[in-house]
Amino acid sequence: MTNSFIPYGRQSLDETDIKAVNEVLRSAWLTTGPLVESFEEALASKVGARYCVVFNSGTAALHAAYFAAGVGQDDEVITTPITFAATANAALYLGGKPVFTDISDSSLHIDVDKVEAAITGRTRVITPVDMSGIPADIDPVMDLAGRHNLVVVDDASHALGATYKDRTVGSIADMSIFSFHPVKQITTGEGGAVTTDNADFYRSLQTFRNHGIVRDASHFTGAPVEGQEKGSWYYEQQQLGYNYRLPDINCALGLNQLKRLDQFVQRRREIAARYNEAFRENPALLTPPCSGGVHFSNEPAWHLYILRLVGNLPPRKQLVNRLYEKGIGTQVHYIPVYLHPYYRKLGYRPGICPRAEDYYKRAFSIPLYPAMSDEDVQRVVEAVNGEVEAVYQKERSK
Ligand SMILES: Cc1ncc(COP(=O)(O)O)c(C=O)c1O
Repeated sequence: MTNSFIPYGRQSLDETDIKAVNEVLRSAWLTTGPLVESFEEALASKVGARYCVVFNSGTAALHAAYFAAGVGQDDEVITTPITFAATANAALYLGGKPVFTDISDSSLHIDVDKVEAAITGRTRVITPVDMSGIPADIDPVMDLAGRHNLVVVDDASHALGATYKDRTVGSIADMSIFSFHPVKQITTGEGGAVTTDNADFYRSLQTFRNHGIVRDASHFTGAPVEGQEKGSWYYEQQQLGYNYRLPDINCALGLNQLKRLDQFVQRRREIAARYNEAFRENPALLTPPCSGGVHFSNEPAWHLYILRLVGNLPPRKQLVNRLYEKGIGTQVHYIPVYLHPYYRKLGYRPGICPRAEDYYKRAFSIPLYPAMSDEDVQRVVEAVNGEVEAVYQKERSK
């Protein structure tokens, strides 16, 4: 490798982030302190939701949201296989069953017609995923859920800062999930959040995050035990919860990062626009579905930039290897969840979602993060166009 390696994604930290975390380390609070609420309020306000509950991962946030939505033994959660496994795993944690429906042929998202056909008496939740930071077409999903009395949990782990039909992602679904893993729009190291306008969901999410413990006396349900005092120490564990709390240390980082969210997303959009322009005319490549004429008035937050190779047997492995040799990191998002060995053991079989499986053969994500310089972007453009041409030429000459 001649040049420095450009990974497919990475965090953008500066001295103000380091200072914010340092200040917490010198304060009285390391874990649940004043910054948890400050971060929650800032996030809720940023996305335009009434409530926000932060968690120590996006996975924990999903687990809590499914719990709040009432997912229990044998209940079904309909989602897309083109997502990180956590979207489906969180249903399994509760004894529920992920039901995978195919992606649409014009987007990387759940196909609403297929969702309708998959609804049964056991369905509780529909979980669209804002894949790569492009918002899923959620209005029809909300309509469908309304007609069947289901809860919509938007897995917006990729989409903090995106808008859908001029509304902010995080303010539309019954609950929206965010992840603050380092490659996402903002980071807390590990972390996540749920935003909602529903006060019952809000209370349930808070309780689930902290062992199922309730401290607010107006919500105590415990029958008085003779001789038992309910002093200032008193609390009740009313259900089985977890320790999913996000420490103040992480909230300090998140709060400071959130101040730069608009700047981060703006830079992501600039890079995506440059990629669209550079790859749109390449006959061997498909650019992301919303890039060649937006199919509804959205503004993606561009967590990932996913290209697809055309043809029957796309030479992706060779391409990925050659790009790596040139110092360009790529990743594949995602292996359809039900193809993983664990899901196969549960009885899921290949062929459930043919479009998703076809997508998976072709897709690869190229570097996209705010700290990329224009020169880095140009290096990626030249390497991708050059190596795509080289691998197809090699195929043709076989
Ligand atoms: C779509 C999606 N959902 C859920 C998660 C889980 O988030 P976390 O890694 O914060 O647990 C991720 C993380 O990558 C994700 O991409």
